[in-house]
Amino acid sequence: MQDFAGKVAVITGAASGIGLALTEKCLDEGMQVVMADIEEQVLDKAAEKLRERGHNSILAVPTDVAVLEQIEALCQKTIDQFGEVHLLFNNAGVGGGGNSWQATNKDWEWVMGVNLFSVIHGLRVFVPQMISQGNSCHIVNTASVAGLLDGVANASYAVTKHGVVALTEILFRDLGQENVPISCSVLCPGIINTNILTSHRNRPADLTNQQPDPSPSAEQENARSQFAALMQQGMPTSQVADIVFKGIREETLYIQTHDSFNQAILDRAQNITTATNPPLRNLTPDE
Ligand code: NAI
Repeated sequence: MQDFAGKVAVITGAASGIGLALTEKCLDEGMQVVMADIEEQVLDKAAEKLRERGHNSILAVPTDVAVLEQIEALCQKTIDQFGEVHLLFNNAGVGGGGNSWQATNKDWEWVMGVNLFSVIHGLRVFVPQMISQGNSCHIVNTASVAGLLDGVANASYAVTKHGVVALTEILFRDLGQENVPISCSVLCPGIINTNILTSHRNRPADLTNQQPDPSPSAEQENARSQFAALMQQGMPTSQVADIVFKGIREETLYIQTHDSFNQAILDRAQNITTATNPPLRNLTPDE
């Protein structure tokens, strides 16, 4: 996809962080934008602020991306308002979870729903719409560098992000085999300065554990505040949006924000092919 002016973008997780920066970038490119997010008041405020800056082609749709019917409604509202959709960002995501045996079913259900099922729903609903239009379209699924590495991040986060990478690789092949004019990318950000460390703000009550999590140890607290400080120095979201648009224009499947993880990605491949056990490491306390 090369021409953006007048085209229609749908962005999930658009009220904050990377999604908000992608919204601003789409508007700067002259696009009409559908902003979807579960945090309704923040979403409305963000949309209002953008309208005050003169951007009038914005539709804000409160959406829980984990729920198929809400993604179907999002697509329908987009078509009702703007007629077509050309650029889809399956971007909403949450950090959280716990380790591989302590995370509860509710922990898994929440993170799997927002980070992975959202993308599955997004493809099942929007790809047929794009195919029916027959024009040039692009889909960007947000994973993480945690989806390219071994043993970093919390269990559910890592599983979902590896899942989004795998799903987008399959999507790339499937679209190519169908010979339709739709391309796709998987965005694998490194550390970006956003609100992801407070993801629990959007956790639905029915997916919240009845027993509160045990108080973190001093060591965990320390790791968490060190990571929060690191995130504040993370890449600005506007820079991520510029990188993403370069990737869309060049139709790049893998979009990374940092090359500093490349050695670890190569090490993982080397470990797999040589049957070598990986070193123990942790990228973040929350992801
Ligand atoms: P953020 O917390 O600033 O933004 C995420 C947005 O998703 C929020 O507006 C939130 O309200 C929304 N959201 C949460 N649950 C939702 C649901 N059920 N339905 C609809 N919207 C929902 O965080 P950030 O960092 O901008 O996250 C965007 C994506 O980037 C996520 O997929 C995240 O995993 C990914 N990512 C972020 C990294 C970082 O360092 N910030 C690194 C790697 C990946």
